[in-house]
Amino acid sequence: MVLGTGHSRVEGPAKVTGTAVYASDPPPPGTGGRVAHAALVTSAIARGRITGFDLSGVRDAPGLLAVFTHREFAGAIAPVRHLMAGGYVNSAHRPLDSAAIAYAGQIVALVVAETAEIAEAAALAVRVSYEEEPAAGGFDSPGAETVRLAVLKDRHADVRLGDADAALAASPHRVEARYETPIQHHNPIELFTTRCAWEGDRLTVHEPTRFVGAVQHGLAAQLGLDPAKVRVVSGLIGGHFGAKFALSQHTALVALAARRLGRPVSLVPTRRQCFTIATYRPETRHDIRLAADAQGRLTALVHEAEVVTSRFDPFAMEGADVTASLYACPAIRTEERAVRVDRNTPGPMRAPPELPYLFALESAMDEMAWQLGLDPIDLRRRNDTATDPVSGKPFTSRPLMACFEAGAAAFGWARRPPRPGALREGPWRVGLGCAASVRPVKIAAATLRVRLAADGAAEVAAAQHEIGNGITTLLAMGAADWLGVPVAGVRVRLGDTALPPAGISGGSSTTTSLMNALALGCGQVRGRLAAAATAPGAPLAGRAPQGLRLWEGALVAPDGARLPLAEAVRLIDPEAVETLAEFVPRGGKPDALQALREGHIGLTLADDALSWAFGAQFAEVHVHSETGEIRVPRLTGAFAAGQVLNPLTALSQLKGGMIWGLGSALLEETVLDGAAYRNPDLAEYLVPTCADAETVEAVLVPDPDARVNPLGVKGLGELGVIGVNAAIANAVYHATGRRRRSLPIRIEDMIA
Ligand code: MOS
Repeated sequence: MVLGTGHSRVEGPAKVTGTAVYASDPPPPGTGGRVAHAALVTSAIARGRITGFDLSGVRDAPGLLAVFTHREFAGAIAPVRHLMAGGYVNSAHRPLDSAAIAYAGQIVALVVAETAEIAEAAALAVRVSYEEEPAAGGFDSPGAETVRLAVLKDRHADVRLGDADAALAASPHRVEARYETPIQHHNPIELFTTRCAWEGDRLTVHEPTRFVGAVQHGLAAQLGLDPAKVRVVSGLIGGHFGAKFALSQHTALVALAARRLGRPVSLVPTRRQCFTIATYRPETRHDIRLAADAQGRLTALVHEAEVVTSRFDPFAMEGADVTASLYACPAIRTEERAVRVDRNTPGPMRAPPELPYLFALESAMDEMAWQLGLDPIDLRRRNDTATDPVSGKPFTSRPLMACFEAGAAAFGWARRPPRPGALREGPWRVGLGCAASVRPVKIAAATLRVRLAADGAAEVAAAQHEIGNGITTLLAMGAADWLGVPVAGVRVRLGDTALPPAGISGGSSTTTSLMNALALGCGQVRGRLAAAATAPGAPLAGRAPQGLRLWEGALVAPDGARLPLAEAVRLIDPEAVETLAEFVPRGGKPDALQALREGHIGLTLADDALSWAFGAQFAEVHVHSETGEIRVPRLTGAFAAGQVLNPLTALSQLKGGMIWGLGSALLEETVLDGAAYRNPDLAEYLVPTCADAETVEAVLVPDPDARVNPLGVKGLGELGVIGVNAAIANAVYHATGRRRRSLPIRIEDMIA
């Protein structure tokens, strides 16, 4: 078996030698006509109207092809709903539809020219005049509208269990505090590019996306096209952090420009524009109230949360369902609210709700441990539960404390003195902190084609995407194991709507969904070969077909009889056996496959039990006693995520997430000035680098879970980032006695 062993990425050599094809790479020379280049003009104001364009500096530019504004494009794009509301887009805002300005940095013109340089220069020379109105930028801005999440999203339900407020009032041990997390922006190396080309009434879009089906169907709906005539191709994705998840605002503009000009058009927005034409993680704030008895058992939990969203979409992250179900507690009340402001719609950023929501809860748990004089791991052990306190449903597995134990051993938690400010190394104050990571398992319907040729060549094809998570490698490993061929003999094709439909590469659901589909497809191939080989008069006649397996290029019977693959395949077809696997998870809707074909998101959560992946994060923090500089010399994480199919790529992904979590704790923040972003570039938007991440260690904790899905896989794409921010904040407290409840924690927080 190759699955379960560490295998390096099959696309790795191509990536590191520069031959890998990314979605944004230009087309090979001589294909598809001469590409014209587009550039964007974006709004300088946050709310109001465009009163005019001055194109005098632009018109005569040699090589300029067109300037498109709402005067040209109004009414050209039909409204389509948000992906999370049954539609396809990441924002219902339609640029160039009218003179109205809904947010700062919205697209107000698309300039097209023979070269990108001419287009960019012309875009800079377009002068736009506005009539400005006051805009609400964020929490507490005049004009911001606060709504209960249950009003915005009809399926949302706040939790009400027992009388949490009365239990709080009666409790001797209480933590009541507000925790805040900032705006963050997805800053993948690969920008949010699009290239559109028409051939007659057929449109081909090259765009880095985690959901080619949504781009295909959304664009068809926006432009009134037959979806069968829209092909979306996404090569390897150069990073996403949760962006690139649905149809973007700019795609239809590029398609329209290409149609009007009769040429392919390519758009590479600037880094700065990517802060406003796409999504972001919105700022959040959490009022947490925790009560416990003298034995450290929680008696009440109240979690009131507010997240920012736009005025035009019902998108808001929900996370209090997770914080409410994490620990045993008899009285729980949650209330989630969205605050609607004059900004673009936010979007999912890896571990969309868990990253901010668990920062709040896991910081509060640490505060409670100090108050009770308990070790923070011990406090969590006293409140561990095998069933969801809210619904009473069981967890399919619950290795949270196993993660804390494994992590504590690997990290050396035992040397932590139970007193803040007790550890020093020269001028550095040293602190150790920990926090939980949890993430509900999501799974989706998936289809996939498996082809096994007589010469042993195998091919696996699905519209799913290689987002850097290693799914190409996993598919090759799985096909190798289940078809009895070498990994190098498996060709994997992904990221194209011409292939069998697949859902979003999101919610950490790719492995759970696609690998179960692959197991099904390979089983179908094996079944057909076994049936043909054991038919009366066939070479393995008389054996039970279920007993046959594919192994090292042959069908092998339990009695040792072998039929070479080439002969077995030729019993069915001279060239190859091919099958389409259609996987529907337990709890999936009956129309799940149809929804998949129509580009709908279709992520499913188990409904008879809670299936979660778990982790425990540990951080060692050094705070310089004079300069306030904060270093994190060590991060250790222990994770339980069901069956791990490739420990090498899994551990890489977990460690990458942990480093990103360090960014959440200490670095990442988009600064709001009014309703505009003030640091939209990589010079001033800080992300962790190698020099910030010193020793990062992840360990895997066994988590056999036969109920979660046939392969027992939980997915861990987002597990690594969760809880690191709280572990670091908790370690900062241990080092200094200073509790920081607002992220990121900066030098200035340490020296005041
Ligand atoms: Mo994740 S940002 O829920 O794909």
